[in-house]
Amino acid sequence: MISEIEDIKAEIQAMNGAPPEGVEAFRVKYLGRKGKMKQLYEGFKTIPNDEKREVGRLLNELKSFIEQRIAEWSSTEGPEDHDRRDLTRPGTTVGLGATHPISIVKNEVVDIFKRIGFVLSEGPEIEDDWHNFSALNFPPEHPARDMQDTFFVDEDHALRTHTSSVQVRVMESTPPPIRTISPGRVFRNEAISARSHCIFHQIEGLYIDKGVSFADLKQTLLYFAKELLGEQTDIRLRPSYFPFTEPSAEVDVYWGLETETDYRITKGTGWLEILGCGMVDPNVLSNCNIDPEVYSGFAFGMGIERLAMLKFQIPDIRMFFENDLRFLTQFR
Ligand code: PHE
Repeated sequence: MISEIEDIKAEIQAMNGAPPEGVEAFRVKYLGRKGKMKQLYEGFKTIPNDEKREVGRLLNELKSFIEQRIAEWSSTEGPEDHDRRDLTRPGTTVGLGATHPISIVKNEVVDIFKRIGFVLSEGPEIEDDWHNFSALNFPPEHPARDMQDTFFVDEDHALRTHTSSVQVRVMESTPPPIRTISPGRVFRNEAISARSHCIFHQIEGLYIDKGVSFADLKQTLLYFAKELLGEQTDIRLRPSYFPFTEPSAEVDVYWGLETETDYRITKGTGWLEILGCGMVDPNVLSNCNIDPEVYSGFAFGMGIERLAMLKFQIPDIRMFFENDLRFLTQFR
């Protein structure tokens, strides 16, 4: 019986591709109700018990071998399939994903700063009070904390309101010079509307070294604006306030006033605010064990949604988070 099984196996192994009589005929011949396997199983009943174990195993192997061959041959086209094959039918499409617009803009901004030597840094989204607030010169009870109310996990931990917390972590762990860029998701207790959301994304940058001045800050941001929006781009700085920088400024880019949309998004001024920045406050440096008598530096931060809304003319910030494929597939 064993030799019979081996003969059948050898016979099939010797076949070169699908049998000329067709896969179905082959199946009937071997696995059919009167097929060869059936005969073998009949013979199996009559062999001595001590051989059953070994022969049973070989029989099962042979059966799966035959089934496997049938599966292989059926998946490739046999001669009888020719007329069933319609070459004009559309193919099976594989749904390709697309990069999310937030990621597109984030990658672009990160690349621009990488080219001038900034390295990427990341940190936790659930942050302690020290890294999100206190180290950045927002003492407890300071009214500036109101501008960045957020979601508290417990007394000492909250969802971070900005990625400045990552900069504190970098300053604490790395001796200057420091040039780093920190993208990430941030959270604030804001009413959700077309312009603001309780979840958004930021990219913040930090440069600390000996002799870093406000002129370095301004030139770095001008370089950035030109890389992002084109060589003709102009920027202006307006005085502002952040607890962790002194002096502080808001940066506007000149957007133009040609169309009605330009009027609307620039509120009739032609200028568009894109980021906040300033010279790192000496208190912040001391909090992070960097000597403010030796080192100085600048920091800046921007919202990615805002840049993406401008770049892609997206009218409502909520669209970024709705996962609507009609929106997302436009960025393929
Ligand atoms: N962290 C500030 C914010 O979220 C942005 C900023 C960063 C401003 C660095 C100045 C310097 O609003």
